[in-house]
Amino acid sequence: MECSYLGPCFLLICSLALFVSGSQTQRTSLPIISFDEGYTQLFGDDNLVMYRDGKRVHLSLDERTGSGFVSQDLYLHGYFSASIKLPADYTAGVVVAFYMSNGDIFEKNHDEIDFEFLGNIRGKDWRIQTNIYGNGSTSAGREERYSLWFDPSDDFHQYSILWTNSQIIFYVDNIPIREVKRTESMGADFPSKPMSLYATIWDGSDWATNGGKYRVNYKYAPYVAEFSDLVLHGCAVDPVEQLPRCDNTDSSQAIPTGATPVQRIKMESFRAKFMTYSYCYDRVRYRAPLSECVINTKEADRLKSYDPVTFGGGRRHHGKRHHRSRSSHAEVISI
Ligand SMILES: *[C@@H]1O[C@H](CO)[C@@H](O)[C@H](O)[C@H]1NC(C)=O
Repeated sequence: MECSYLGPCFLLICSLALFVSGSQTQRTSLPIISFDEGYTQLFGDDNLVMYRDGKRVHLSLDERTGSGFVSQDLYLHGYFSASIKLPADYTAGVVVAFYMSNGDIFEKNHDEIDFEFLGNIRGKDWRIQTNIYGNGSTSAGREERYSLWFDPSDDFHQYSILWTNSQIIFYVDNIPIREVKRTESMGADFPSKPMSLYATIWDGSDWATNGGKYRVNYKYAPYVAEFSDLVLHGCAVDPVEQLPRCDNTDSSQAIPTGATPVQRIKMESFRAKFMTYSYCYDRVRYRAPLSECVINTKEADRLKSYDPVTFGGGRRHHGKRHHRSRSSHAEVISI
């Protein structure tokens, strides 16, 4: 490039550099860890495949088994994220879950924060469900369901959970889609004990698609979900000493601490367009809305037109119950 005078050329180079570094910062400043640094396989033998760079894994479901992984540590609060690409085509009955739980430790009073992806028949989109349980509150599901503004099987998208002492925020591509504020009346229903992070794929034929009408068809197996950009940023808790070790060394700006006013506007517009179910408006399940529900009459009217949905009910282990033993036979392939 030849510049006769510095001005515009300098500006051009500068703004190019800013644009490039701007978009890179967003991606690389998240503290992404390799699979071996943060996770172990939970079940599924060689249906968990790690790519040679160690930063990408895929989980598959076939007629033999689903598969899953779990964080090595338990965390009390933090920011947890993964880029996920869901299986394409016919996926009825298939469930991919990205969630936090301590059901292994607290059998009767566990906590849970869930992203669940529910497969669909060909030509119909995946749906996302979010939910929380606290201290064994499995009789009070707090499910919400949404459609998406993109096809989640086309490419990787980032799904994140921010969990603090006062709120839980679910994000899709950095847009908050749900904010659960801790209220006094929720009491112990707000997740408050250390949890592990899980990712699983499993056969949810009995409920996932139209309440079990469409089951998993293994003619289309294996169903493969890919995971990358794994982020575990929080206070790891030693299960023996119960002492938190907070990862505060990275004060990266990419780690959100709450929803900004601009993000809240985006969240409201997402919810107005894409939310298809909320427990707050389900008068069949709850004759009176749970205490934390803030009722919006417009939303109530809109959501009335959707059919009631069915839920798995107390699925503490998200498919894991079929495979209790942890194994680490991850097969390694090169990309
Ligand atoms: C959580 O559940 C346990 C067992 O049911 C109960 O003993 C405890 O009081 C509960 N915690 C809170 C904060 O309600």
